[in-house]
Amino acid sequence: MLLGVNIDHIAVLREARKINDPDPLQAVYIAQLAGADQITIHLREDRRHIHDEDVRRIIENAPLPVNLECSVNPDIVEIVAELRPHRATFVPEKREEVTTEGGLNMDDPNFSNLDKALHYLKAREIEISLFVDPTKEAVRAAKTLGAEWIELHTGHYANIYAMLYANLSKTHHSIPELEIERTKLKKMLDKAVTDLEDATEYAQEFGLHVAAGHGLNYQNVHVVRAIHGIRELNIGQSIVARSVFTGLDQAIREMKALIA
Ligand code: PXP
Repeated sequence: MLLGVNIDHIAVLREARKINDPDPLQAVYIAQLAGADQITIHLREDRRHIHDEDVRRIIENAPLPVNLECSVNPDIVEIVAELRPHRATFVPEKREEVTTEGGLNMDDPNFSNLDKALHYLKAREIEISLFVDPTKEAVRAAKTLGAEWIELHTGHYANIYAMLYANLSKTHHSIPELEIERTKLKKMLDKAVTDLEDATEYAQEFGLHVAAGHGLNYQNVHVVRAIHGIRELNIGQSIVARSVFTGLDQAIREMKALIA
């Protein structure tokens, strides 16, 4: 299975001090040597981590395909069109969120310009992916819109997993709506996995390539890895977190070994 390494969090560390270190481009070279198949970055409207200059330098110099996550904001879309990454992944974006909270809601009036943006970038030979929740409706809408890839949002699965099998529920980041009986939580986990499996199968019937990502880590990735039909995982936070202790090269090699 292919590994896209999301390096936004390298830039998060830089922005914590608002200086020029660590440089996300350096992470790109290390990722390539460690066996990553793709670099994923997100140019957020608020520029909270990756900046325009990072995107330009990474696309111009990366020895790997670059998957650029973006919203449908016309200014952002124009930057993507100009810099022409290998792939653009449209994601929903809210200013106040800590991280991308859900997949694209194609019925949301805010996404009425998704169709336009998608075809604008497609015409520039940029591969298009849509970040969607694992539902048949979302997969069908992605196909109708003309995407080549979908990326299934694994955040819900990862949250349940962390509440069940990690210590998240004992910390101040416990998720209140998932503070429920373990038997119920286990059923929810089974359902979340079945939804990912069904959405993958459905997407394959439509000829869509399937990626997945968000919240995947060294503990929970094996379940998603086992879903037949998912070709690529985009993983960021857990790899960068581990790299603090092991170095980025080692952290990527360990993840690559888990999903190979
Ligand atoms: N895929 C998409 C579409 C994302 O928005 C993100 C987070 O930026 C990721 C994958 C990576 O998620 P994480 O950092 O939780 O591994």
